[in-house]
Amino acid sequence: MCGIVGAVRNSEASGFLLEGLRRLEYRGYDSAGVVVINHAGALERTRTIGKVGELEQALQRSPLTGMTGIAHTRWATHGGVTEPNAHPHICNDTLALVCNGIIENHESLREVQRASGLTFTSETDTEVVVHQVYLHLQEGLDLADAVRATMKELQGSFALAVVHAGEPGRLVVGRQGPPLLLGRTDDETFVASDINALLPVTRSYQVLENGDVADLHDTGCLIRNDRGEIVERPLHTSAQSGDAVELGDYRHFMQKEIHEQPRAVADTLEGRLLGDRVLEDSFGAKAKEIFDATRQVQIIACGTSYHAGLVAQHWLEYVGVPCEVEVASEYRYRRHAPREGTLVVTISQSGETADTLAALEEAVRQGAMGTMVICNVPESSLVRESDLAFMTHCGPEVGVASTKTFVSAMTGLLLLALVLSRRHGFDAGFETHVVRQLRTLPGALESALAMEDAIAEMAQAFGDKAHALFLGRGAHFPIAMEGALKLKEISYIHAEAYPAGELKHGPLALVDEKIPVVAVAPNDLLIEKLKSNLEEVRARGGRLYLFADPASGLVESEDVRILHVAPVDSAIAPIIYSVPLQLLSYHVALIKGTDVDKPRNLAKSVTVE
Ligand code: F6R
Repeated sequence: MCGIVGAVRNSEASGFLLEGLRRLEYRGYDSAGVVVINHAGALERTRTIGKVGELEQALQRSPLTGMTGIAHTRWATHGGVTEPNAHPHICNDTLALVCNGIIENHESLREVQRASGLTFTSETDTEVVVHQVYLHLQEGLDLADAVRATMKELQGSFALAVVHAGEPGRLVVGRQGPPLLLGRTDDETFVASDINALLPVTRSYQVLENGDVADLHDTGCLIRNDRGEIVERPLHTSAQSGDAVELGDYRHFMQKEIHEQPRAVADTLEGRLLGDRVLEDSFGAKAKEIFDATRQVQIIACGTSYHAGLVAQHWLEYVGVPCEVEVASEYRYRRHAPREGTLVVTISQSGETADTLAALEEAVRQGAMGTMVICNVPESSLVRESDLAFMTHCGPEVGVASTKTFVSAMTGLLLLALVLSRRHGFDAGFETHVVRQLRTLPGALESALAMEDAIAEMAQAFGDKAHALFLGRGAHFPIAMEGALKLKEISYIHAEAYPAGELKHGPLALVDEKIPVVAVAPNDLLIEKLKSNLEEVRARGGRLYLFADPASGLVESEDVRILHVAPVDSAIAPIIYSVPLQLLSYHVALIKGTDVDKPRNLAKSVTVE
């Protein structure tokens, strides 16, 4: 989702700005643009729709020269994907601005600005922001004061960066929602939406807080809070590698990340187990105190992370820990009856998902006893805002569709269930058993990956389909949900997931030979129930595509295709069964020729509501 980069340099800025945009590409976007203040003190702007590569080519044809500049990748919210809607937006040829977020009161501001004689060249909500800053400059305010005054008039959630042609060597940025990070060297200053864009120049960074306005010069920067007071924000050092993530021999990052899962899970477990026990320090310094006080768990997340939470609910309740799971965008606007001793657990690959962050804030406001995040990005907002953090240690995930972080988040959640099981008096032998199974996870994931060729062949049956149904039972229903989500998002085939027992309450009406029905069938306590449900599908002419334990007793026939998954203990089965479904959606997407790593309309990091 939208990304901001900016710099006050003592050499040409456009190289850093372009590389910064490239490093923010993974967030998802549909157009990009850059502005610099040239050596004659005028704004020079280039914008393109499509990939950052298009912008790069445009800059090769007509380079922009100047040492101060801002750049942006846009993920359309207000107004279509067009060049005039791409940022930076300029007012009166002198003021340029980029924004990440949504301005909710843009219509009322636009009316007032029109009445003041200002004209609009885009359909975006951002253009009202640059006009508003301009109006405050006209009143005689200094650039930073004009930005602060504007921020107080805006409703919504946003981060912005502004340059003025008359002030080369100065860049003003403000945050009210999505993150903004400042980086400095001895004689240059930088800003970016996330650390990836800063790494080519520095590892040290500061994070602006909501309401902050920072005034960046080549010699340093001055941060004022929403009351106008000068403040210092802590200096962090990133441990992340500055190297761009390489694709290697893989065709897509998604394929690479699916194949990295054995290593990703081994890294997630590294240092977290001792003998047959889970080390509770893995969750943070205050883990003991918070876990001692935990009476129940409330999990909040979005998308794939939400599905990981639904699997964890089965594990937590199994060991006696009451657990609810909720989608963040719903949770944040709902009143909650207080429950004593609630540990709120958010799950997020990026740690920047706007709805999850807002839900966390709401949970704290409503009196959560403690908060914890399962996350893949150490420098993220959710990690900063939570009492405890369990880092998945998967390394960067580039493909928009989450894969390795899903299995690693589930692994972390299983460790959490084990740690909490002790406090709920659950049989200690269970922890021993599950820890032993966890140690087999990387190998079991390798076996699941070995199914790829057979899955690629199975995928042929899906290329011409418009719809698909996914079925599972128990902890494998969320795995079916995740399978359906993966298929939708990267192959654009409409897919829905149902608990298999629910079919006859409605969805069975959809079943005919044109709808493939995919099911995950581990050999667990529900296998006989599942088999009956699958017979109901067959009896209506449905075509079944099954991922099944060899001992499940399911038999292949003309209308039933079965791929066997190596036998696996039921404690870790949901983690393993997610892999064939990832591979299926990947191979269907290859057949359909979609943009696997950057599916249309989607963003990796969803930083707006
Ligand atoms: C789907 C996918 C999304 C994310 C969701 C939450 O493949 O990746 O559904 O899971 O946008 O993102 P995070 O986990 O970063 O909070």
